[in-house]
Amino acid sequence: MRRPVVMGNWKLNGSKAMVTELLNGLNAEVANIEGVDIVVAPPALYLDQAERLIKEGGNKLILGAQNTDIHNSGAFTGDVSPEMLKDLGASHIIIGHSERREYHEESDEFVAKKFAFLKENGLTPVLCIGESEAQNEAGETEAVCARQINAVIKTQGVEALRGAIIAYEPIWAIGTGKAATAEDAQRIHASIRALIAAESAEIAEQVIIQYGGSVKPENAASYFTQPDIDGALVGGASLQAAGFAAIAKAAADAKNA
Ligand code: 13P
Repeated sequence: MRRPVVMGNWKLNGSKAMVTELLNGLNAEVANIEGVDIVVAPPALYLDQAERLIKEGGNKLILGAQNTDIHNSGAFTGDVSPEMLKDLGASHIIIGHSERREYHEESDEFVAKKFAFLKENGLTPVLCIGESEAQNEAGETEAVCARQINAVIKTQGVEALRGAIIAYEPIWAIGTGKAATAEDAQRIHASIRALIAAESAEIAEQVIIQYGGSVKPENAASYFTQPDIDGALVGGASLQAAGFAAIAKAAADAKNA
């Protein structure tokens, strides 16, 4: 039985005041939710503040981050390393988000390097994959997802996926309100798990596959009742404490039913 993981990707949103308000609100909202890992990924600048607030609030929330560099120190202006993320208490690190692939031209190979470096540093990669609208319409969804995951499997072996998280985020569903149907998402999740199972059934069985893209409190349960959807990567709706907690609770309820 996989323990669901619901993660909030705050993206480029936050201020000292907002971080305090949102995390204090979340600490209270999630206090009685059991059976789900609830992760927040604020902008890196606020990790220190977030770590302190999470501790004060009873350590129910897990701290994550939105990106990493592939070096731990040195002449890499502007970058943030796994060692620094770890130093600030972050454990779950998003890589390969479509916004980074698009705006920062990150390739499958570069994302795979990040994956390997996070593992080497004892951190949990949250590997984002997913197709564009054009690729979806051309029927290329499974092939795109396979290519993105194979960039890791072919360079590091399927064993690298042990303990890792995959987030299937169709690009056309991100921030659009046009979420994938739960049935379509389940079909893709099953194909992702089958791809991994072809290498190792055991690893496929334990890998967490989140859905992301316009997940809201209203549609969350429909995803979590699907057998291969093990949680969510939430953008916009993770910026509201009550709504994000409701999504986490929906995951706990569905998976522990
Ligand atoms: P939205 O939930 O705002 O659609 O964003 C999804 C996402 O990109 C999470 O990484």
